[in-house]
Amino acid sequence: MHKALITGASRGIGKAIKNLFEERGIIVYSPSRQEMDLRSNESIEHYVSTLDNVDILVNCAGINELASIEEMTEEKLQEMIQVNLIAQTGLIKYITPVMKRQNYGRIVNFASIWCDFSKERRIMYSIAKSGVKGLTTAAAVELSKYNILVNAVAPGFVNTEMTSKNNTPEQIQTLAEALPIKRLAEPKEIAEFVYFLASEKNSFITGQTIFIDGGFSCV
Ligand SMILES: NC(=O)c1ccc[n+]([C@@H]2O[C@H](COP(=O)([O-])OP(=O)(O)OC[C@H]3O[C@@H](n4cnc5c(N)ncnc54)[C@H](OP(=O)(O)O)[C@@H]3O)[C@@H](O)[C@H]2O)c1
Repeated sequence: MHKALITGASRGIGKAIKNLFEERGIIVYSPSRQEMDLRSNESIEHYVSTLDNVDILVNCAGINELASIEEMTEEKLQEMIQVNLIAQTGLIKYITPVMKRQNYGRIVNFASIWCDFSKERRIMYSIAKSGVKGLTTAAAVELSKYNILVNAVAPGFVNTEMTSKNNTPEQIQTLAEALPIKRLAEPKEIAEFVYFLASEKNSFITGQTIFIDGGFSCV
């Protein structure tokens, strides 16, 4: 039976992934922020040390605080990089020894369309999410020989609190109309693809950052 650690499962995309994995018989560990705070590397290392034989890691948690170059502070930038990038890196570091022993693992990181594109006031997010793309490539190079396949998904606009917090309803409508698919993604649509990447059915895709963006990157 597969066992997965999923971060950010209290709501949004992470919650949809947790629900889908559990429906399909995977045992899911989904720590709350109180159990594992991604702002603290000690908290991450400690939580992982309490787990047993996890073979799937979904690094879904993320934050997106908007700031222009002028508004950005060192403190805000460090928190964005910590939660969105360093935490994903730490989780890979601490969880892969057990995957290596099992000669099996599937890791799915969360990037964003803003890893390759950007928009005003997304500088901190783009810095962190482009780092996730680099992390995914580098981790795949080291880990694939142990049958630990590492990929990232780069969603476009998904119907979650993160999107509604950073865009007005009018802006969301304009964003949707500009997409070839003419609507936002629902969390479950992202979860389905994460499930594939995290399953045994994925036997040869590794090191990729795959856009799930309703055609955003085509126009
Ligand atoms: N929504 C989109 O349109 C979109 C597009 C591209 C990429 N993404 C990426 O997809 C992922 C999920 O996004 P979402 O829209 O589902 O986000 P969301 O609804 O805002 O949920 C964020 C999740 O991350 C957790 N989290 C944040 N800071 C944390 C911390 N310090 N320690 C532990 N957990 C923490 C939150 O836990 P709490 O409940 O405790 O706050 C929550 O479970 C993120 O990586 C995001 O960057 C989203």
